[in-house]
Amino acid sequence: MSTVLVTGALGYVGSQTVARLHEQGATVVPTDIDTPANRKAARRLPSGISVRWADLTERGHVTRLLTDVAPAAIVHLAAVIPAATYLNAKLSRKVNVEATRLLVEAAEQLSQRPRFVHASSVAVHGSRNPYHNRILTADSPLNPVDSYGAQKLAAENIVRQSGLEWLILRLGAVVSTDVRSLPVSADVMFLEWSSPSDGRINTVDVRDVAAAFAAAVGSNVSGEILMIGGDDSHRQLQGDMGPAVAEAMGLRNVYPRGRPGNPNDDSAWFVCDWMDTARSQEVLDFQHHSWPDMLAEIRTRVGALRYLLTALSPIARVVLRRRTPYRGQPGIYADPWGLAYQRWPGARPD
Ligand SMILES: NC(=O)c1ccc[n+]([C@@H]2O[C@H](COP(=O)([O-])OP(=O)(O)OC[C@H]3O[C@@H](n4cnc5c(N)ncnc54)[C@H](O)[C@@H]3O)[C@@H](O)[C@H]2O)c1
Repeated sequence: MSTVLVTGALGYVGSQTVARLHEQGATVVPTDIDTPANRKAARRLPSGISVRWADLTERGHVTRLLTDVAPAAIVHLAAVIPAATYLNAKLSRKVNVEATRLLVEAAEQLSQRPRFVHASSVAVHGSRNPYHNRILTADSPLNPVDSYGAQKLAAENIVRQSGLEWLILRLGAVVSTDVRSLPVSADVMFLEWSSPSDGRINTVDVRDVAAAFAAAVGSNVSGEILMIGGDDSHRQLQGDMGPAVAEAMGLRNVYPRGRPGNPNDDSAWFVCDWMDTARSQEVLDFQHHSWPDMLAEIRTRVGALRYLLTALSPIARVVLRRRTPYRGQPGIYADPWGLAYQRWPGARPD
């Protein structure tokens, strides 16, 4: 396999994708923005692989990178994802949309045009009411409800209108058995807890996402959008997912109970849903880790620390329940976007 340039290579999905491509024998060139955190993450890359530092919002950096590397394929993962998107929607648009444009334009200028594999998100489909919506397909309506979804949709359109051979992978909720690597923060927890507990969510193991990107590089399918979710065991309800992970770690009954969604309000649901992955699995053969297997692996990885976490559960329960977004709020139904727009004005579609 010839040279593959991976952007956002030191991120959550990127680091796994670089490792997977390397294992498969590709010459991988990881690129990311130069920050202290990324310098630290670069030390964990497989030996012999070094990072090309570039800020993809700078045209000069992008042109130099592509001219020097002349990749046969680009896996474009670099992005600013929620809740960081909402905290700085302007910078996020520069990264999520304008950097994609710069990368596509520079790729089009190369004498050998690279294949372009682009990471998108189910957020492009917007709020998903399980009472009215069928499961997600690539053809489901596109109706972003947040700045992130709007930006990911704009980036998809740039890729689709390009003169490159492209493939777009729309990812569901990416999860990991390495609980330390999960992007958990107070803002991310706020988003999760404000989402309707009976909303549908399709998780997928980050290693399977990496397998999908690696397979997409070598696939002869192009000009398609593929839905990347785990197998049927990953079709779950929002309110069941977090507690299952916490229980696997030994944390018992610590999760605040969420609110159900309003069956009569199509705009008040989170952006995740169950996904039809028949076509993506046929093309990429990436689903290798079931949800029960992931939970068993978490249990094993946490090991004896589980006993300590179980002992700490009563304290964790009190602390976490104080943080529930609906504490003291009127009403019975979840209102995730009402809360999000209030907390982060930059969450509104831009
Ligand atoms: N994590 C998920 O659940 C999920 C779900 C759907 C879609 N996605 C998509 O998958 C891709 C990877 O997501 P992730 O979870 O690994 O995100 P991440 O935040 O862990 O990684 C993104 C990477 O982009 C890099 N980056 C940011 N600004 C940059 C710039 N100006 N120049 C160069 N690099 C820059 C960051 O340093 C980081 O390493 C993204 O496109 C994201 O939108 C992720």
